[in-house]
Amino acid sequence: KADAPLQGKRVIVTAGGTVERIDPVRYITNDSSGKMGYALAEAAQALGASVTLISGPTALPVPAGVERITVISAEDMLQEVMARYDTMDFVFKAAAVADYRPAQQRPQKMKKTGETLTIDLVKNPDILQTLGKIKKHQFLVGFAAETEKVDEYALDKLIRKNCDLLVANNVSLEGAGFGTDTNIVRVFDRDGLVEALPVMSKREVAEYIVRLAASRKQAAAIP
Ligand code: C5P
Repeated sequence: KADAPLQGKRVIVTAGGTVERIDPVRYITNDSSGKMGYALAEAAQALGASVTLISGPTALPVPAGVERITVISAEDMLQEVMARYDTMDFVFKAAAVADYRPAQQRPQKMKKTGETLTIDLVKNPDILQTLGKIKKHQFLVGFAAETEKVDEYALDKLIRKNCDLLVANNVSLEGAGFGTDTNIVRVFDRDGLVEALPVMSKREVAEYIVRLAASRKQAAAIP
């Protein structure tokens, strides 16, 4: 194929929110729809890549030609990503990973007792930061959903998690964020803002990001 910058490349996309169980009938999750991640998987596949989509629970259909692995919790997601990381060329970490999980998962349904209830939470592993620490040839793209100070938080995240690109959006803007079919993103690299994109469909945003990652990685490979 003529327009296939990712021909022969292996790509992981993570998508959706993770689900952290409290007891057999209750859990903690977030508003992530998975749409941005699924669009990235579709775009990378269309541009020639072999794509593994590691996804939290969502109702979205599996994009054609993409291998999907469904996970529940952040710990499951970390395990599935790590099992494949060595052989990957690109990782797009669009999943909204829960920052905390219940300290214990109760084997039986919790009973209603006191007037208040406290559930202890413990920190989940940061998957992206883990990948950033052990990164070799891989090109890492992080995502950030913010409601304020978008640029400041984005750049901080990019450096802290050792990403090559970071895609930030302000989820409080109309036409951006969770659930919508469009997004408004600002793309950063180590030197700062690369591009502030106008409102676009998530599929168009995805293609832009995938093409940018492909050209950046290729440029970096030239001695
Ligand atoms: O710190 P924050 O959650 O805003 O960072 C967002 C980026 O980090 C996303 O790419 C997300 O997938 C990733 N992340 C992760 N593991 C976590 C939390 C976030 O991989 N526990």
